[in-house]
Amino acid sequence: MTTTEPRTVLISGASRGIGRAIAERLLAEGHRLSLGVRNPQALRGTSLDPEGSAQQARRLLVHPYEASDPASAAAWVKASAARFGGFDSVIHCAGLFSRAPLLFADGQEQEIEQLWQVNLMGPWWLTRAAWPQLAAHGQGRVVVLVSMSGKRSKGRLAAYTASKFALMGLCQTMRNEGWEQGIRVSAICPGWVNTAMAAAVTAIPREAMTQPQDLASLTAELLRLPNSCVPFELAVNCSLEN
Ligand SMILES: NC(=O)c1ccc[n+]([C@@H]2O[C@H](COP(=O)([O-])OP(=O)(O)OC[C@H]3O[C@@H](n4cnc5c(N)ncnc54)[C@H](OP(=O)(O)O)[C@@H]3O)[C@@H](O)[C@H]2O)c1
Repeated sequence: MTTTEPRTVLISGASRGIGRAIAERLLAEGHRLSLGVRNPQALRGTSLDPEGSAQQARRLLVHPYEASDPASAAAWVKASAARFGGFDSVIHCAGLFSRAPLLFADGQEQEIEQLWQVNLMGPWWLTRAAWPQLAAHGQGRVVVLVSMSGKRSKGRLAAYTASKFALMGLCQTMRNEGWEQGIRVSAICPGWVNTAMAAAVTAIPREAMTQPQDLASLTAELLRLPNSCVPFELAVNCSLEN
């Protein structure tokens, strides 16, 4: 396959935010997409509605996906492979934010457990289910929305930071395991991105944050690059960190 040929891509968290921006960009570029979302109905009538046009009907599948449920990952992978005759890329955008600190309150354990399930185990189960398809292709791609919180701990976000460091560890191991099979893994590590997740942030104006559409451009480029040139880690800062 040349790198300009369309890919068949699974995108989690495509209902909004970064995942949605990536889906819109990849659809516009001619790729085939399988979108995993908690509520498929929510995409009705939007630019990601498979019934929006004949072209979208051919190239777009929307499937239920709950990141904390391994059976849901397996069902989505199976439906995607059946629909498109296989796939070659997975983009993990589903994720949760939490401000649970080191000295979290009694009763916050559940919030931390959910974060662990969605931010770490979600990508793990989905990658595990998708692996045979990615390996069979020979130029598989896995793109993971990690965070700068997966590289350093800047403030007091103990739970979120721990979940993202763990995710980065998983990414490194995926890179190692996939190398010989031609699977290339990229961990994108942004600071604040202008989505609902950063809605409560006031330290940086929203227009000065990284924009989801710019991460979508970056991701589209990752899918084009040949196996010999895929960066593993991309630190994307909207303010100086040194
Ligand atoms: N925004 C930032 O500043 C920032 C910075 C660095 C890294 N990131 C990471 O980038 C990724 C995307 O973030 P975002 O900014 O796009 O966030 P967002 O706008 O809050 O969107 C989160 C997405 O994750 C989905 N999701 C949440 N829980 C889920 C679950 N249990 N099962 C399936 N899907 C679930 C949501 O689906 P629903 O619509 O169904 O809720 C939504 O599509 C996350 O991993 C986040 O940690 C974000």
